Amino acid sequence: MGKEKVGLVALVIIVSSWCVTSSSYSSSSSFRGDLSRGKAPSTFGSVSSSLVLNRVGSSVVLPLHGNVYPTGSYNVTVYIGQPPKPYFLDPDTGSDLTWLQCNAPCVRCTPTPHPLYPPSDDLVDSSDQICRSLQPSNNKSDRLKRCSYGIQYADGGSTRGFLVKDVIDFDFKSNRGGVLSPRVALGCGYDQIPSPYTPCFDGVLGLGKGESSIVSQLSSQGLVANVVGHCLSTRGGGFLFFGDGLYNFSRITWRPLSYKSKRYSPVGTAELFFAGKPTGQKNLKLLFDSGSTYTYFSSKAYEALSSRVKNELIGKPFTEIRDPDLPLCWKCRKSFKDIRDVTKYFKPFALTFNRGESTESQFEVPPESYLIRSVMGNVCMGVLNGTQAGLKDRNLIGDTSMLDKMVIYDNANHFLGWASEDCSQLPKSRAFAA
Ligand SMILES: *[C@@H]1O[C@H](CO)[C@@H](O)[C@H](O)[C@H]1NC(C)=O
Ligand SMILES: *[C@@H]1O[C@H](CO)[C@@H](O)[C@H](O)[C@H]1NC(C)=O
Ligand SMILES: *[C@@H]1O[C@H](CO)[C@@H](O)[C@H](O)[C@H]1NC(C)=O
Ligand SMILES: *[C@@H]1O[C@H](CO)[C@@H](O)[C@H](O)[C@H]1NC(C)=O
Repeated sequence: MGKEKVGLVALVIIVSSWCVTSSSYSSSSSFRGDLSRGKAPSTFGSVSSSLVLNRVGSSVVLPLHGNVYPTGSYNVTVYIGQPPKPYFLDPDTGSDLTWLQCNAPCVRCTPTPHPLYPPSDDLVDSSDQICRSLQPSNNKSDRLKRCSYGIQYADGGSTRGFLVKDVIDFDFKSNRGGVLSPRVALGCGYDQIPSPYTPCFDGVLGLGKGESSIVSQLSSQGLVANVVGHCLSTRGGGFLFFGDGLYNFSRITWRPLSYKSKRYSPVGTAELFFAGKPTGQKNLKLLFDSGSTYTYFSSKAYEALSSRVKNELIGKPFTEIRDPDLPLCWKCRKSFKDIRDVTKYFKPFALTFNRGESTESQFEVPPESYLIRSVMGNVCMGVLNGTQAGLKDRNLIGDTSMLDKMVIYDNANHFLGWASEDCSQLPKSRAFAA
């Protein structure tokens, strides 16, 4: 398999028993249940000229670099500290905490594109609400003043460290509006265990719905609504945004988000359709996870989809072939440069959410969002067998299936939204999906 990340951050388990010092947090992986949605009074950060936070309408836009294949990851440049220094972060809707590989000093760090982050001396107290949101609910001891955290990611990687507050600026130079430099809590990670998929990055930009998430923090400071979204282009790159100023609400398909799940999981289950016809695969629980490069279906749904794609190719100029990069590939009789040159031979699939409590909503995945042109020039499935990857019966919608869609995680109203979009251009106007 290639350089994909398996649900990098889909299934974050807080492992607080890692706290090295005298802390006696239990190793339970229980989560805080409900999240406090109360908005703090508006406290705009101190205005500084170094600040490059870009607000379009009431949104912040951050360009993304990377692609599903061959890079297998995305990164966003964020400026942190005083004076601000650049860091390449892995944007992840599957986890909450933003952290940097940190010189505290570092016990174990993976290779970084920039020098290690020198931690700010503004430590977050262990009684701070953001610290508490990262700890298991059975908080036994608060002997430690410093807020320690440990996060275990689904792909086997992990980080541990402590929380500091520092100034965060986003790299967006064409900003004409006012400049803002909010102080946010972030992790100084001094002990990382890499997963087999860890790209070379300085840290993770946590975009989940928990209180420690960057968008929750910006929102509680009154800077943007608690909404995060992304638009990944089939041509590579794309953008990330915070706030609700970029899209036309009525053009988006909305689906309620589960309150119970700590992750971005739509309420109810979905049924898998291929080429407009039911596949018999129902009751699929889905998680939307930008930290996962590919989409993963549980074994039966994967089998249903891959067998239909194979059937569809009977009599067409393709033969199944082994490719070192992905498990299911075909060689086309004619060589081609762009996946779009062959997508006419393939059919879309769709995930349809049950009618029931709200109107039917469909997440359609056209061939260019589930097929990949490998380095060898083959066509490969970008949907993988999640059971094989150790995800059990979870179904992860990864980057590959979110290409050329605006995907919106509205934490303020607990809705997930999506709409087809050309993600190759940064939005300039207010209602981008207009
Ligand atoms: C856990 O933290 C809460 C505050 O978030 C506090 O009220 C409670 O007493 C703590 N529990 C224990 C056992 O210390
Ligand atoms: C991150 O993006 C920068 C461009 O801003 C690029 O130079 C760098 O190679 C990227 N790193 C990774 C790991 O993709
Ligand atoms: C998916 O993976 C599981 C576990 O490795 C395996 O039993 C099953 O046969 C695989 N399904 C397909 C269609 O390859
Ligand atoms: C939003 O979309 C609706 C329906 O497509 C359209 O009627 C309306 O004019 C749009 N609003 C804006 C501000 O673009």
